Amino acid sequence: MTTATDVADGLVGQAPPSPAGPLEPGALDGLSRPPRIPLPRLVQVLRFNQRQIEFVFRARREQGEVFCMHGATEAVVVTSHPDHVRSLFTASPGQAPSLTGESPLRPIVGTGSVLTAVGPRHMRQRKLLLPAFHGEAIEAYTQMISAATEREIDRWPIGEPFSLAPRMQAITLDVIMAGIFGVEGKPERGTPEHGLRQMIRRMVAASTRPEAQITELLHIGREEAMGAMKFGLAMVDRQVFAVIAARRRASDLGERRDILSLLLQARTEEGEELSDKELRDELLVLVLAGHETTANSLAWAWERLVRTPDAHEALLAAARSGEGAEERVEATIVETMRSRPVIPLIGRRVTEPWRLGEHGVPAGTAVTMSILLVHHREDLYPQPFEFRPERWIGRKPGTYEWIPFGGGIRRCLGAALAMAEQRVVLEAMARRLDLEADDPAPERALHRNVTMIPARGARVVLRSRHS
Ligand code: HEM
Repeated sequence: MTTATDVADGLVGQAPPSPAGPLEPGALDGLSRPPRIPLPRLVQVLRFNQRQIEFVFRARREQGEVFCMHGATEAVVVTSHPDHVRSLFTASPGQAPSLTGESPLRPIVGTGSVLTAVGPRHMRQRKLLLPAFHGEAIEAYTQMISAATEREIDRWPIGEPFSLAPRMQAITLDVIMAGIFGVEGKPERGTPEHGLRQMIRRMVAASTRPEAQITELLHIGREEAMGAMKFGLAMVDRQVFAVIAARRRASDLGERRDILSLLLQARTEEGEELSDKELRDELLVLVLAGHETTANSLAWAWERLVRTPDAHEALLAAARSGEGAEERVEATIVETMRSRPVIPLIGRRVTEPWRLGEHGVPAGTAVTMSILLVHHREDLYPQPFEFRPERWIGRKPGTYEWIPFGGGIRRCLGAALAMAEQRVVLEAMARRLDLEADDPAPERALHRNVTMIPARGARVVLRSRHS
């Protein structure tokens, strides 16, 4: 929640109230429908997919804070008011199930995983996974994240430009392999874990190629993978099932703290254990949802820092002296996730008529929240396009105003892990590295699947490295 002092210093403000939530039968008649974007359907779909930022900012300017656009398969309402966000996050699962039930990841992870399931099935999977992602469980990983970071930054070239995103991914992949599969450092050749790591790297590399967009379009609305994706997945599956089988037989299963081992021992309220197929789906969700997102959020942090001298200097000074370091690192991460949210849009499908300010939408409407637009509201964040970590010194972000991890019962399960990773990596890099932008022009955002990433992978030049 923002307070009067927050508003007074001109760094964080408050939005005027706007009524939102389920409507009584008949109440919809008195409200107008959200304005539609007056462009042909195909033009909207293509522009949204390629230039989401320009598209949504223009729509908001021309149509207002709630508008209706054409998605690939249906009309979708977009809102950017925190009160509307609150109404959707606090609704019961039956009133506003998540649109991730229709996610492009469905052909890969099936319909029963924590990400793609809705209703009781979702709650069951979420309850099973939650203990592994609690703050305490995550604290145990800090040491390992730090070791993976130091190993990685020691390898970077001095004096020649390189992209940070793949380097960040190497760290977050190490963290995922250790946290999820319990494999620390480089797995030995010939082991199922080594095969799995290789396959995951290949899968992520393949998803970054331009043809991946076409594959994704071909899979819209499908529940099963086809063609090259099917073939690639079969290879990943072989490795995942081999790792699961080896772990089931492990004599130290009871003592292991990695997520796979915890899941192998977990039982539902009815006393059931997860099948290999269910385990495989959850593990792939965690790898896919967890490693690229965190890596790109870190890449954005540096893309912004090397172009914002005040913020950069303040971070380096704090990290190197230790004075106020924790707070400065946190503020830098929060401001990065405000100004460059890696997932820019999330959604729910309302199952009752819903009010969104002066507009109303019928039951069955897909209502999305543009994280990007919420985070760039002038009333919430004065001079929203400026990167100013100071907004967050001495202040916590508001639950419905800062939403890079979504919210409610679908809030990102890995948020604590993602924050821990970003804290450790950002602090270590600030302490040890003098980085510069290779080009003063800001990097454009590239939209890949549901993510928004720096187009050149946050290209930098490393001037010097301290021990
Ligand atoms: C900076 C990094 C990350 C960002 C920005 C991010 C963002 C998000 C967002 C926006 C959602 C949807 C929330 C909603 O609809 O309300 C989500 C869901 C999810 N995320 Fe993350 N995420 C990150 C890292 C991770 C990590 C590290 C993991 C796990 C290892 C993870 C696992 C998940 C899962 C399992 C869900 C589905 C939760 C559910 O539907 O109950 N994420 N994430």
